Amino acid sequence: MPTEPLPFQILPSILAADFTRLGEEIRRAEEAGADGLHLDIMDGHFVRNISFGPDVVRAVRRCTRLPLSVHLMIQRPDLYVREFAEAGANLILIHVEAPCDVRNVLRDIRGLGIRAGLTLNPETPLECLWTVAEASWLDEVLLMTVHPGFGGQKFLRAVVSKIRALREQCPRLDISVDGGIGNATAAECAAVGANVFIAGTTLFRAADMRAAIQSLRKSIQAALGATEAKG
Ligand code: DX5
Ligand code: ZN
Repeated sequence: MPTEPLPFQILPSILAADFTRLGEEIRRAEEAGADGLHLDIMDGHFVRNISFGPDVVRAVRRCTRLPLSVHLMIQRPDLYVREFAEAGANLILIHVEAPCDVRNVLRDIRGLGIRAGLTLNPETPLECLWTVAEASWLDEVLLMTVHPGFGGQKFLRAVVSKIRALREQCPRLDISVDGGIGNATAAECAAVGANVFIAGTTLFRAADMRAAIQSLRKSIQAALGATEAKG
């Protein structure tokens, strides 16, 4: 009996927002029909960039009821998951490459009553996921489609086969993609099993974000339709 396809979600990444008017940008995303927001936390060590911390997450939390997905690109996620949970994160994604006890941190995140996810950099083999975690500990796996640290980069097509392999292993897991996501690349990822789409530049640089989100949805639905037709 064919299972219901997983619902797909579109999350604008606020790293691409205009920080001089962040509150308005959050409201723009909410009114445009975003399913949630993606917040990139960078510490200048795990990645060569520094973004923002728990206080900004707390401020965003005050602006919107959308679920907040917090992507920790930091060396020591073990030291900060509680702060981000208390600041309002609904999901915390840590990197499998972070030099910490990943399984403990995943357990800590779940212990704080929020969803837990693992992120893999483009060059990290899928097998690394299963050396530190079991599928039952994870609410989401994020497969980076750019090298983490900056928005506006080019989509790395080599990750597509990793998305397909992970979907074959985990038919019901939320699989997110992040980096260089636009209509064509979202369709490519949807066709092989991604169901959570994170986009910064494509959405926040759009004059009409609602139209941009609708266009992404159409591209994803067309790809899913084509995949179903292939059977
Ligand atoms: C990169 C971040 C991404 C980035 C996406 O390290 O994790 O979320 O903001 O930006 P775009 O969609 O512009 O590639
Ligand atoms: Zn991100």
